[in-house]
Amino acid sequence: MSYLSAIDLIKSQQMGAWVQAETDALNQKLLKCQMKLTRIQVFYMPVLDYANNVMKILILGLGGYMLMQQELTLGEITAFLTYSVLLSIPLMALGRIATIYQRGMVGITSCQTILNAEVPEIDTKTLSEETLDSLKGQTFSVRNLTYRYLQDDAPILNGISFDIPPGKKVGVLGSIGAGKTTLVNCLNHHLDVPSNSVFLGDRDITSFSRNDLRRFVKTITQDPYLFSATITENVKFGSGSRTISDDDVQGVLELSQLAGDVERFEQKAQTVVGEKGVMLSGGQKQRLSIARALLEPCDLLIMDNVLSAVDYETERKILEGLFARLEHRSVLVVSHRVNALEYMDEIIVLSDGKVLAKGDHSTLLKTCDYYRETWLLQQTETEANPC
Ligand SMILES: Nc1ncnc2c1ncn2[C@@H]1O[C@H](COP(=O)(O)OP(=O)(O)OP(=O)(O)O)[C@@H](O)[C@H]1O
Ligand SMILES: [Mg+2]
Repeated sequence: MSYLSAIDLIKSQQMGAWVQAETDALNQKLLKCQMKLTRIQVFYMPVLDYANNVMKILILGLGGYMLMQQELTLGEITAFLTYSVLLSIPLMALGRIATIYQRGMVGITSCQTILNAEVPEIDTKTLSEETLDSLKGQTFSVRNLTYRYLQDDAPILNGISFDIPPGKKVGVLGSIGAGKTTLVNCLNHHLDVPSNSVFLGDRDITSFSRNDLRRFVKTITQDPYLFSATITENVKFGSGSRTISDDDVQGVLELSQLAGDVERFEQKAQTVVGEKGVMLSGGQKQRLSIARALLEPCDLLIMDNVLSAVDYETERKILEGLFARLEHRSVLVVSHRVNALEYMDEIIVLSDGKVLAKGDHSTLLKTCDYYRETWLLQQTETEANPC
């Protein structure tokens, strides 16, 4: 199945021979298992069928002998034979049921692994409406956050501290693998962060459920995921029971600079985007996921590298629209591109899981060599290729 999804890559990289060898090996494995099963069935099925007939011969032979010895009457032998025939069919069916039961149990065990997965106790509790109201518009603080994926591994994030007060626009700049997505997933409690590391107001985020936290934080992930539905439906998902008008959808499409593209589609906003959004370009997918997140504003909107597939001009327009809409709310924009971060109130430069420098664009240009070099490099790129 994964080979089918990767068909474009297989063709473009000419990986056909390798895929064929892999598929052949899998088919051989399947053939071996199927043959083993067939051999067992070919042996036992006739044995079972013949056992039925052998039983009749035995009853008639042994019964005939006992009849001659006058130990049994003809009526008793006939009754016994009838009962045994009546019983043999349900008994054979029982054998088949045992096979079906065993196969079913294998499937059920796999499902149960997911269904019985333990939900942490804290996630089963809900904060009272009053407490939730008191958490609205509070500062997100990261205090000395250290995170490692596996207990014995080196930390991916090391002693990170910063605050995101309400209304502040914060940028995170870092090279590939610097730990930006890991930081994002700690902030939205996607990962099991250590306690006393991330706070909303004065509450540790590990002290209440993730469901409650996600009323305040929304994340637009690095790989946008779209459902096989229309553009409008993809925007409306996640708005809960609130009724959303088409004008609302149009509004967020305009903010995310997707309205122009949608206008060019034959079915406009009713265009079906296909499985995982195959009908859209990378940049269109990113902008659709931004529109979806903008429909229901939250206290902190995190954008993890979501503007990487749009040009600089569109990026600027999206950020301007976004900041206007989320004027009193906080935004955390993660990017490799300095251009996307120039307008931020504060930029955190991350390197190897540590905070290298903090400050606004003009301060960092003076104080942080890495920031200045990245900026200069990207300025040259922009001049060479303005789109
Ligand atoms: N689930 C995981 N298990 C183990 N290690 C991981 C996992 N996810 C990421 N890492 C490691 O953590 C480091 C940081 O990864 P992360 O995804 O946070 O980087 P990033 O800064 O977001 O990079 P990019 O700019 O490419 O998105 C990498 O070295 C990566 O190998
Ligand atoms: Mg990342």
